[in-house]
Amino acid sequence: IKKIGVITSGGDAPGMNAAIRAVVRTCAYLKVECVGIYRGYEGMIDGDFKAMDARSVNNIINKGGTILKSARCAEFRTKEGRQKAYDNLKAAGIDAFVVIGGDGSFNGALIFNKEFDIPIIGIPGTIDNDIFGTSSTVGFDTALNTVVEVIDKIRDTASSHNRLFFVEVMGRDVGHIALNAGVGAGAEEILIPEENLGLERLLESLKRSKASGKSSSIVVVAEGDKTGRNVFELKEYVEEHLPIYDVRVSVLGHLQRGGPPSCFDRVLASRMGVRAVEALLEGKTNLMVGIQDNNIILTPISKAIKGHTKIDKELIRVSEIMTT
Ligand code: F6P
Repeated sequence: IKKIGVITSGGDAPGMNAAIRAVVRTCAYLKVECVGIYRGYEGMIDGDFKAMDARSVNNIINKGGTILKSARCAEFRTKEGRQKAYDNLKAAGIDAFVVIGGDGSFNGALIFNKEFDIPIIGIPGTIDNDIFGTSSTVGFDTALNTVVEVIDKIRDTASSHNRLFFVEVMGRDVGHIALNAGVGAGAEEILIPEENLGLERLLESLKRSKASGKSSSIVVVAEGDKTGRNVFELKEYVEEHLPIYDVRVSVLGHLQRGGPPSCFDRVLASRMGVRAVEALLEGKTNLMVGIQDNNIILTPISKAIKGHTKIDKELIRVSEIMTT
């Protein structure tokens, strides 16, 4: 392998730049050429490539987003799109690539690798932490810190007005952000896709909370929670069934994806970037770099996207005790 491409794809996550930097610098260290592929698979289809050396990634370890830009690309889902992408890689002399992204990006990589013989290694980059084969994805820790910081601020105003807040956090299919940030921010209830607590239980818990003398209440709701109601509908439901509360809603949205990466994410991304390049040079392919018990490990990408991440039951138990 003489030339390695690096690409960021899907939703961006803080720490992606640190991962790009690690891939580029490891290539420079091991004397392999490196090429940045811009705008995710879209840029692969358009041949939007730029040679990168150790100095191309100066001063980016501390920056959120991705300097390579990202996209969710519909054309890559077609055979014709993937053929164009392959032709461009060949024309540019790119023998292998590292894809930094989540579920969708890895799915694309697997199909691509089946059709064309090009080695691929994945680095999990998503704030959702919904990838099997790693206890933490790049961006998850930063997102948690961001959410906790924001909920702390919401709590100030909630408690000044004796209000109840429904705070919606990201997590289309999983509740890792909601559960961890909820515990970290001292939420009274946490609603996640993995468990449906039911609306009756929510009302009971809020009643108890008020009766016990709490001056404010924060309910953290994952985007994909299964009560069947979004945060605005939950607000209406509680106002109707529990008029003792003055209720407000805060949807945190994309601010959760931005900001400088935490030290944890920077170190994680650096370790994963090094291992990804080394793995390619060892002749490996279709694997994802992950971290387990502080060891850097490799998992087949097919498992990473199919094996479901499990919500931490012990943390659910802790959260229940903490609402006393
Ligand atoms: O990065 C994953 C994620 O944050 C999901 O939790 C969320 O539903 C989605 O991205 C929204 O992303 P976009 O607005 O880019 O489609």
